[in-house]
Amino acid sequence: MKLEGNTILITGGSGGIGLALAKEFVALGNKAIITGRNGAKLEAARNEVPGLETIQSDAADPDAVKALAAQIDERFPEMNVLLNNAGVFIPRNHTAPANDLAELTTELDINVAGPIRTVSVLIDRLKANRGTIINVSSGLAFVPIQLGPIYCATKAALHSYTISLRQQLKDHGVEVIELMPPAVHTEMTADLPDDGDFKIITIEQLMKETFQGLRAGREEIRPGQANQLHWMSRIAPGFINAQLEKGSKALVPPPEAQ
Ligand SMILES: NC(=O)c1ccc[n+]([C@@H]2O[C@H](COP(=O)([O-])OP(=O)(O)OC[C@H]3O[C@@H](n4cnc5c(N)ncnc54)[C@H](OP(=O)(O)O)[C@@H]3O)[C@@H](O)[C@H]2O)c1
Repeated sequence: MKLEGNTILITGGSGGIGLALAKEFVALGNKAIITGRNGAKLEAARNEVPGLETIQSDAADPDAVKALAAQIDERFPEMNVLLNNAGVFIPRNHTAPANDLAELTTELDINVAGPIRTVSVLIDRLKANRGTIINVSSGLAFVPIQLGPIYCATKAALHSYTISLRQQLKDHGVEVIELMPPAVHTEMTADLPDDGDFKIITIEQLMKETFQGLRAGREEIRPGQANQLHWMSRIAPGFINAQLEKGSKALVPPPEAQ
């Protein structure tokens, strides 16, 4: 994709990786529109980044996703890049029943159903504008960690969906890119120990490698440890699974914490 002159919709852009991407894209001469659930966080982002547009919207709510597309149609018909970034990670222990079965699939609703529905409501616009879809999955799409069984499953699902989507859209003028970050310092990883198995990189490092990947025209961008997870999952899957099993065992919350 070209890196300037785009109008980019970034879901979950009021913090962490989404906000960092928004800042980089704005600095490169793009218009960025971010979404999020929390109005105060959106306002803070707007104050921090001059020119940033915000729309309050929950990626897990089908009606909100439809309303988001209606706002894009009305206010930003030139939108040509959809960056599906909104996501949550919830540590879980499945050795005991969950108290709330609706809550149990929160990550599926946000991390998987969110991008799928958002692509669907915006696909005609993206085709008309010869656009780009960027899905943010994770290095954990390749190998699960027991700290986040559902999270890892959602990222593996998003990875698979993204490959099929790329193949389907190839003849429709829409490029599909996948950004697969390793562990990055954000609110999401605030409780993870930064040692041994989890090398947590800075947002700045992630941005550097992400934009190198975009400039190089990569369809799958795997910064830092994400690239190692990719190769290890192919060359030595038993070894890497055993390493990660050991590394995350102590982090699994007790069942009564759910
Ligand atoms: N940090 C990492 O180590 C890491 C590694 C690999 C992949 N990733 C992926 O990168 C993406 C961003 O992660 P992050 O670390 O930047 O997380 P973060 O710091 O927790 O920020 C998440 C952003 O998404 C928004 N969000 C969450 N749920 C949403 C929903 N239902 N609808 C709309 N917006 C929502 C949040 O705002 P509100 O709460 O106000 O909605 C916030 O702006 C996620 O998809 C994550 O899985 C992160």
